[in-house]
Amino acid sequence: MNYDTFLRDLPKVDLHCHLAGTMRPATMIELAQNNDVQLPTTDPDLLYAFDDFYDFLRVVRLAAECVITRADFARVAYEALSGAATSGNLRYAELFFNPTDYQRQGVDYPTMIDGYIEGLRAAETDHGVHGRLIPSINRELGPQVAEGMVREVIAHRRDEVIGIGMDGSEHHGPPEQFTQAYRLARQAGLHCTAHACEDNQTLDQAPPSNVIDCVDKLGCSRIDHGYNLLADARLVQRCQREHIPFTVGSHTCVSSRQQTRWDNLHRMRQANLSIVICTDDPPMFGTDIGQSYASVCTQLNLTTDAAAQLALDSIDATWLDDTDRHRLRSEFATTIAAMQNQPAQSTERSDAVVDANRLSTGQPAGTQ
Ligand code: HPA
Ligand code: ZN
Repeated sequence: MNYDTFLRDLPKVDLHCHLAGTMRPATMIELAQNNDVQLPTTDPDLLYAFDDFYDFLRVVRLAAECVITRADFARVAYEALSGAATSGNLRYAELFFNPTDYQRQGVDYPTMIDGYIEGLRAAETDHGVHGRLIPSINRELGPQVAEGMVREVIAHRRDEVIGIGMDGSEHHGPPEQFTQAYRLARQAGLHCTAHACEDNQTLDQAPPSNVIDCVDKLGCSRIDHGYNLLADARLVQRCQREHIPFTVGSHTCVSSRQQTRWDNLHRMRQANLSIVICTDDPPMFGTDIGQSYASVCTQLNLTTDAAAQLALDSIDATWLDDTDRHRLRSEFATTIAAMQNQPAQSTERSDAVVDANRLSTGQPAGTQ
């Protein structure tokens, strides 16, 4: 088995993926037509060409506007999971969605949540891939809207909804504004994460202290992105010591920033931070979970051994309960052992075929 095939076939989790950003251009165009939403272009090759991060945010919010009926939500969740299971052996995902983006066009929360759950269950039946949901605060709408959103999530609890997140433009909503929304979520037993320290924001806009505020003030058990943290060695050390997982995006919205992203991932790994390779907004950024692993592992020069360890250790960052986490870990270890038993073909990295016996079971991602 060659290096790229090994990385594609590796069993994976994805913990940072936005459902509105998972739609293939053809799906978004079709839903827009069905629901009378005007798009700036119906050319699938141009729909996801972004000028910058803010242009991307505009399009991802527009994508949400195209999803209206319960069947639309079910379709989006189903296509996200089944596509990733088929193309990159995704086994488990925790998926973001912004309830307030859909409410703008009059969709009520139970419609979206029950539609998504229907799609998750169908994907589980057809592809054996499991999904959970993370309602996410659009920080640009301010703390009051965020608190209202969390109250609604709590009022309509579903087992599949396991935590809350926060996204959008970071300097338009720094973490400390949202302490009350996160307190409400934690009191209701929801896990917490937030986007912080994105590398498309300056250090003034998204300073390293944002990561610490997310941990200390919001009670986040993991962080989405985190690259700007690298500017503060003392805070890097703290996050390393506390094994705070960073769900990093392999790809970014504009290709001119792609090398910076890979450089940052390299530096995070060198600093022994726990990283989990994720897709963020896969077709919008030209990736899928298999491609994300292939790109990052190639860029970081990881052996197949190290890549398999990363996939295994990423399970520690999930919000599964202990029983399900151990089950997923042993399923991954069995699959990896079977992959290891296949003969290696000659590739530049074929010397590094994984030895599953050497895979530790308790190590956080990125610490080997
Ligand atoms: N950052 C901020 N907001 C987002 C993102 C992201 O990576 N993806 C979708 N909305
Ligand atoms: Zn994101």
